[in-house]
Formats: sequence, C-alpha cells, structure tokens
Amino acid sequence: MKFSVFSPLRPFLLISLGLFLLCEAKVNTEIQTGPLYRVVGSLLSISCNTSGFSNPNLKKDFKILMKNPAKPFHEINIISSEDPNFSYARFFPRIQKNEISMKHVDSNSIIFEIKNLKKEDEGEYECAVVNPEYTFNGIYSAKTVVKVIDDSLSITSSGSPTSLSYNEGEALSLTCQASTNTIQHVHLAFAWYLRKEGAQDAKPIISLDRDFTLVPGEGFEQRYRDEAIRLDKLDEATYRLNIAELEQSDQGQIYCQAQEWIQDPDRSWYKISQKDAEEIPLTVKAKVVTSMSPQVSLSAKNALHEGQELLLSCGINAQNLAKRFFSVAWLWEGNELAKIGPTGILTVRQEYIDRERIGELKATRTGNNNYQLRIMPVKTTDKGSYSCRAWPEERGEDGNFNQGAAQDSQAMAIDIFTPESGFSVKMQNVRQTVSPGQNLKLICDADGVKGQLSVTWNRKTLPTSSLFATIVSLNKNGVTEKAGAFASREVRVTRPTMNRFVFELPDVAESDSGTYECIVSETQPNGRTESQKQNVDITVQSIDSLVKVALRSREPVVTMGNDVQLMCKISRPDVPMTLTWSWETEDGNLNTIVVLYSNGSISWSGDQSHYQVQVDNQGNIVMYSLKVLRASHREAGKYQCTVSVFLHNVYKKLPASHFVDVKVLNPDSKLALSPNQTIAQRINTDIQIYCKVTSRTSEFSLFAVTWELQEDAGNKIILTSDRNGITMFGEQIEESHRKRISMRHTDGPTFELTIQQARISDKGIYLCKVVEYLQDPWGEWYSLSDKHSHTEVDVIELEKKLSIETKDAEMNISIAEDFSIPCYITQQSTNESQFQVTWFWQQGTEVKTIFTAYRNSTLQARDKNVVRYDRPSPHQFNLTVLKSNSESDGIYFCEVEEWIHAPGDKWMKHAVEKSGNLNVTVDAEGQAKAVTDLTWQAGTWIPIYVVTVSIGLCVITILAYKLCKKNTSGGKNSGPSLWTEQVPLDPHA
Ligand SMILES: *[C@@H]1O[C@H](CO)[C@@H](O)[C@H](O)[C@H]1NC(C)=O
Ligand SMILES: *[C@@H]1O[C@H](CO)[C@@H](O)[C@H](O)[C@H]1NC(C)=O
Repeated sequence: MKFSVFSPLRPFLLISLGLFLLCEAKVNTEIQTGPLYRVVGSLLSISCNTSGFSNPNLKKDFKILMKNPAKPFHEINIISSEDPNFSYARFFPRIQKNEISMKHVDSNSIIFEIKNLKKEDEGEYECAVVNPEYTFNGIYSAKTVVKVIDDSLSITSSGSPTSLSYNEGEALSLTCQASTNTIQHVHLAFAWYLRKEGAQDAKPIISLDRDFTLVPGEGFEQRYRDEAIRLDKLDEATYRLNIAELEQSDQGQIYCQAQEWIQDPDRSWYKISQKDAEEIPLTVKAKVVTSMSPQVSLSAKNALHEGQELLLSCGINAQNLAKRFFSVAWLWEGNELAKIGPTGILTVRQEYIDRERIGELKATRTGNNNYQLRIMPVKTTDKGSYSCRAWPEERGEDGNFNQGAAQDSQAMAIDIFTPESGFSVKMQNVRQTVSPGQNLKLICDADGVKGQLSVTWNRKTLPTSSLFATIVSLNKNGVTEKAGAFASREVRVTRPTMNRFVFELPDVAESDSGTYECIVSETQPNGRTESQKQNVDITVQSIDSLVKVALRSREPVVTMGNDVQLMCKISRPDVPMTLTWSWETEDGNLNTIVVLYSNGSISWSGDQSHYQVQVDNQGNIVMYSLKVLRASHREAGKYQCTVSVFLHNVYKKLPASHFVDVKVLNPDSKLALSPNQTIAQRINTDIQIYCKVTSRTSEFSLFAVTWELQEDAGNKIILTSDRNGITMFGEQIEESHRKRISMRHTDGPTFELTIQQARISDKGIYLCKVVEYLQDPWGEWYSLSDKHSHTEVDVIELEKKLSIETKDAEMNISIAEDFSIPCYITQQSTNESQFQVTWFWQQGTEVKTIFTAYRNSTLQARDKNVVRYDRPSPHQFNLTVLKSNSESDGIYFCEVEEWIHAPGDKWMKHAVEKSGNLNVTVDAEGQAKAVTDLTWQAGTWIPIYVVTVSIGLCVITILAYKLCKKNTSGGKNSGPSLWTEQVPLDPHA
C-alpha cells in the first residue's frame, strides 16, 4: 500500500508559512551573546542590532544601560544616540573623553565600546532600540553579561641577556616563558619578533598560533623549510627559538610576544591580552675574510690529573666552509702530533702510533668547523704547550689537493698533575630533594691544602648532556664572576672558613634540577695548579606532586540568608602561591570571585559585598576560607579553589580542587490559612468567602492568591491576585460572570471573594490558594510552596416566604399598667422553620433591644423593663411589659429571623422581617402614683432583682396584685409563659 506524506501535511505547511510571515513582521533586537570575559584595561566591544521595523532604512536610535552585580535591580544609563543627557554621572566623564562610545554600523546596528575597561564595568549590559513607530510588536531590547578579569598574562625571556653578539654563521638559541593565571579556558599564542636594524615595525620570525600551528614569518620561510629556524615548546610555559646560522640581516632587536585568546559564546575567538617581553639587541658580526685562510681556535682544559682525558677541540672558521676541504693538525711543543687530511684520513706521529692503536689517542671531525683530539689516560709527560693548525686544500683539475696557507691557533699550556699531592675535595651534601621556591645550598670542603684556593660551581640540567655549564666562580683573590645565563638569578658564593666554599641558589624551580659540581683548584707554592671536583644530583620536586589542594565545607546546604563557609586547605605552602576562588553557575559559566595574589594583593570580581576571605597560615598548611554571606539562590552553584604557583615570573597552575556544591534552600513555610468551611447561601443573595492568613513565615511577606472552583474536568481559575495585588480573571470566566465577581484584601491579611447574586451554578468547592513571597538578601522576591483552604458553597433555591403582621397600632395605658407587644407570623417559608424573635423599643431616634427569644429556647432580656415572654401559638410570640411607667412611652416592634435546614445538618438564616409599630402612650393620670412608687429610687432604672431586694414585701404585694388583675381581666393568654426574672439581665447591654 502506498501512502501519501504530502497531502495531509499541506494545510499544516500553509499555516506554518503564514505564521512565519507573521513573525517576520515582528521587531527583533539582538546583542552579542555573553558572558564576554574581558581583561581589565582592555577594549570591550559589543555589537547590537535590530530588525523587523517597517522602515528598515530609517536610522534607529539606540540606548545602552547596565546593571552592576552589586545592585542587580538598579539600572544605570550609559549612553544614548538620541539624548546626550542620558548618561548617569558615573559614565559621563568617560563618554566625554571618548573612552565610552556608541557608533552606528548601519541604520539598524551599532557597536558599543569601552576603552580601558575597569573592574567595576562588570555587569549586565542592555541594548535597547528606541521605537520610532506608534505600535509595539516584538522585542526592543536585549541583554548580555560582561565579566572583567585580571590581566595575568606573563612573559619573560629566560636569563634576560641585555644584549647578544654573534658572528655570522653562528647558532642562536633563546628561550622565553609565557603563562597565565586565567581560570577560564584560554589559548596562548606565541611568537618571536625581530625589528631589523633601521626598520619601523617588528616582523615575526616564527609564531605558534592560538590553534597551535607553526607559521614562519615573512622572509623566513625558506630557512624554516630548511629547518634552520625552529620554535619548540619545551614545557607548559617555555618556548625556544633556534636559528642554526645567523645571517647579517638578522641584526636588530629580538623579542618574544604572547597573546591570550578566549572563545566567546558565539564560538569566535577574542584576544583578551597581548604582551611583549623586553627587546634584546642582537648584533651579528660580518665575517671579515681577508684571505682564503681560515681562522683557527683551540679549546681544552688547562689542568688535568694523570689518568684523565685530554680533549683538544679545534675550531675553524672560513667562508663557504661546508663546500671546501681542509687539513687540521694538532701540535705539541711546536711538533705535529696528529693530522686529519682533506678526505678524513688520520696520520699520527711516530711516537704516538702505539697509543693510537690501543685507543688512547683518537682524532675525529665532529662537524664542518670542529675537529677533536682525545688522549686518555693522559700522562704527566703529556704536559706542555699545545696548538692547532688548519689549511685549505684546493682540489686541482688532476684531482690532487693543493695546500693553501696554514693558520695556527694560539698556543695553550696544559698541566698534568700527579694525584699524590694529598689535596682533596669533599662535598657535604649528598643527593637531595628540594622544594620549588626553596634555597639550594651546597658546601664543598677542601683538605690537604698547601696553596691558594679558587672554586667554580657548574651544573648540567639535562641528564643526557655531558656538558657542564658554569654558574659562578670565585677566584683566589675572592672575586666572584657569574655566568651570563644567570644574570637575572640571585646566586651567592661564600667562603665561611679558609677551606669551605658555600654555594646558594635561592628560589629554585623544577627546571633547576640537575647535577651540580664544585671544582676547587689549588695553586701550589711551586706554581703548579691542581684541581679536584665533586658533584651531586639535585632534584627540585614538581609542584604538582608537592602542593595538595583540598576544598571542603561543613555545611554546603543552607537555608536562604545563612552564611556558607568554604575552606581550601593547601599543604606545603612554602612557594609563592596565587589562589583563585571561583564558582560555576547552573548555566556552566565559570565566574571568578576573588584572586589572592602571592604578593598579598587581593582582586575582587563582581560583587564583593557578599563574600569574605581569610587566610590562616598554620605553618605546613595554609587555610584559605571563603565565606558566602547571607546566601541566596544566586550564590548557589559549584565552588572551587584553584592554586597556581608563581616562580620566576611564570604561573604554573596546579590541578584545581574538586567542586563543593552549595545549595540554598527556602526557609520552612509557616503559612497557615483559616480552616475549611461550609457556606449555604440563598439564591440571588451575595456569597462571601473568606480566606484568612492565620500565620505567616515573615511579617514582611507578600501574598499571591488564586481562587479556584473545583470541577471534574480540573480546577477552574476564577480570579488571581499577584503579590502586588493586581487581580486578573481566569480565562475560563465569561465576561457576564466577571461583573458579579470581586475580591477584597483586608488587613490580617484576609482575602474575601464576593460573588453577587448567587446562582445555582455557583455551587461547589472553592479553593483559595495562597503563595507567600519573601525577599532574599538581595531584595529579590521568591516564593514558598503554596497552601490552600477550601469552602463548600451551597446555593439554596428555597424562596423567602416569611411574612409577619405589619399593621401599626396605638395604645393608651395608665401608669403601672402592663401592655403586650405581639409578634404574629402570617406565613413561613418551610414547615420546619425556626424563629428568632427580637423586640425593640424606639424613643425618638434611639432604638433599644429589649428582648430576644433564640431558636434554642434561650431568652435574653436586654433592657431594664420588667417583661414576660410567652408563645401562645407556633406563629405567635408575645412580650408583655410589666408595670409601665412614665418612661415607657414610645414605639415598640419586633423582628423575626427565619432559619431553615441547610445541608450538612446545619441551619441557615433564610429571611428577616419586621413587624408593624405599636405606639404606646402612658396616661399621665397614673403618673402621681408611679412617681410615688419610684421617687425614692431617684429616677434611676435598676434591675428588678435589686428592686426585689430593696423594696421587699411591698413590691411583691403590688406585683402579685397586678398579676391577679391581669389574669382575671385578660384571661385569654393561655400559652406557655416565662418570667424574665429567671434570666440574668445583662447590665451592660
Ligand atoms: C546582527 O544581524 C546579523 C544579520 O544581519 C547577524 O548575523 C548578527 O549575528 C546579528 N547580531 C549581532 C549581535 O550583531
Ligand atoms: C442559644 O443561641 C444563642 C444565639 O445563637 C447563643 O448565644 C446561646 O448561647 C445559645 N444557648 C444555648 C443554651 O445553647
């Protein structure tokens, strides 16, 4: 079966295309992606552009703003293309000096630049385009992060010779060390430069790019291909230049250069730093060739012991050496001893033939320009004056050689001693291991001394090399002479006693490992010189194996606002160390917090106010501590300490500590809400639902509230109110319903949802969800988990049918007479209705509650009137005011509350009705009597029990009389009756 992919997709594709076109029209603003790590003092350049405006050719105005890490909510205006007064004072002077600028690249893009970047320029930069249109649609600003790090690139030429002087054709070897302390991933590029004599610019001889490719400089290509120019990386930081044969054109200023590169998030590489080492003047002397005869030189040791090796090295120097033939001869006391002919054939003088045969004498050509003669073992009879002679051999047309003019070297006197002199040298130090940064100390003692002593200290650092290089010497007159290669190093030679020589090399590095030798020479009274030597192997430990870095924290998981303490323990700290505290955020960016340099200086990045550093030197251990003050979610992440050792201007990074994961937890919520409740509401009345916060986590909290209605299909959001009190209806709430719904926020705080004109459809379980917001130590709001309370709302359909007698009536009574206030229910809503009846008395505008009969048969009198309550029938409630007096005038009425059964075995108030007014006038005739009765009470109304006690029998008699009279005259009230005296009266009512 075949099925089509296209046909069902077609409508979808059309819709997508439509959406795409819609999106196209939207404004978009882009800024160079960060974080951009830049070095202090360098140039920061950020590009920003915008698109999607209806008029792309119109030149847009841009603004640049920034936020400091220390005040992340405070925006600072930097520069605007529209308003010259836009900048804050902090940036204004730098804008005037053109140190900060913004330039249009075209109508829709700009380049923002800060020259000479400062540490406090670190932060979040925002580029905003000023909208020239009336409508807004899209994104008008974009942000990027800039991190300002220290410039730690270091470059030095080894030995830093002040000047170099060579002959044309000689070899040059120079080393240079380049390193950085940057903890972010960087690449170093390296190059040797030459500023030729008279030239303006320096040109590279050879360079190693940031992607580690070797490139010869312009004009040096052929020599590079011939391997006459090389650049070798000897270790992490050391680069060596080798030029096999110097040319005269190489004369000039030579120096090395390092560049530090970082890869930006857009994958492009950016040069964050570049440094040059000091320029070294290089002189290349031209060969002065006056004739075809060569220059000849001899080198050898001038004092040897019997049995040692005598090495006579003969150097020749001539034009076009490689293409010519020479003969070289060695002379002893003016007589030829041995000769190497033009074709390499060795001829030996008769007396030496035997020694040659047994291998005691050997002569070899070791190079174009070097010939060596070895005699081993040497005898005392071999002492005397030696020289070397060389002459060119021109091959004639017949193939025979024609001798050219010979040239002799200077003669050299060589002494051979017998060891019996008793003079010996001992080195005190045996093979030893030294820590980097420490002082290397060697002691040589001479014994059996008869003459004057001098000493030379040599070393060889490469085990494969057989050549010792001189470090320093001390002659018999006490004058020291340091070798050029050690010009920049501190070297001490002392002679604490006549026969003791001490050598000290402070601040050793791993590269100082090797064999050290002392040669003590004695000039004996007879004029003879004898030398004795001793050597020792010295290992300078590698820093990696020595220094241990361990990071820990007792409590890496803390509650918001608490401090976190991190401890970085460094063992064997007797080397100058630079320690960097850093922290990797969740997005994987490595942020430098602070760098503590070996010289004691401290360099903070970003915001320093949230951290504290401390260094505790405990001898063999140094404890570096970092305290994160009042941690918030911003400070959560992986912390690390990185150590690098700074020796001889070179940073050597040690493996970083492992990470300590700092987690910041929210505080436990103390939020509590009023308990769940049930409400029954009559239809068409207003539903009011309360949600009260009874306990909170902080007194400064803010609350966001969501009101939801539980439904089978999931909860329906009615209304939300954010922490600032901005309310919004849920999307599912129809417009018509929105008019009925409102929310109020009162102190407490209490949230009150009102639904007007209750409908049956409003029935249900209402959820009040409250989210508590707290401020973190930065002032930023964060939320705790929400709490809810629910209210079950029932809407009762039952109609209000309650009605009571509302006819007004007038009544004239004599003083001291009783009168009743009837309260008659003519209709009730249900048969099961219960009633609460309250009687009132009104005089003028003053209304007083006299009496209440509750549904639960509790009675409560509220006034000083003596009353009697009875309920002659289920519909009729009666209150009789006993013993009226002149003050009993006024309007009396009752109010009936009808209560009905509500769901959940509850009762609800269903209706309230008021009766008609009964206007009572007390006849003045009886006034005299009443006045007589009560005058002594000074017109004060007092409770009846006091009256009872005070007046005693007399009053009881009157009461009894009145009762009898009422019963006999009225008689018709036969229902249940109660005496209010039985109910305590409330004197405060
Ligand atoms: C600016 O626009 C071009 C496309 O025209 C884009 O390649 C570039 O990445 C944009 N962003 C920035 C920050 O310059
Ligand atoms: C009767 O109801 C009233 C009002 O609801 C209340 O104040 C009173 O305490 C109740 N009395 C009894 C005995 O339950």
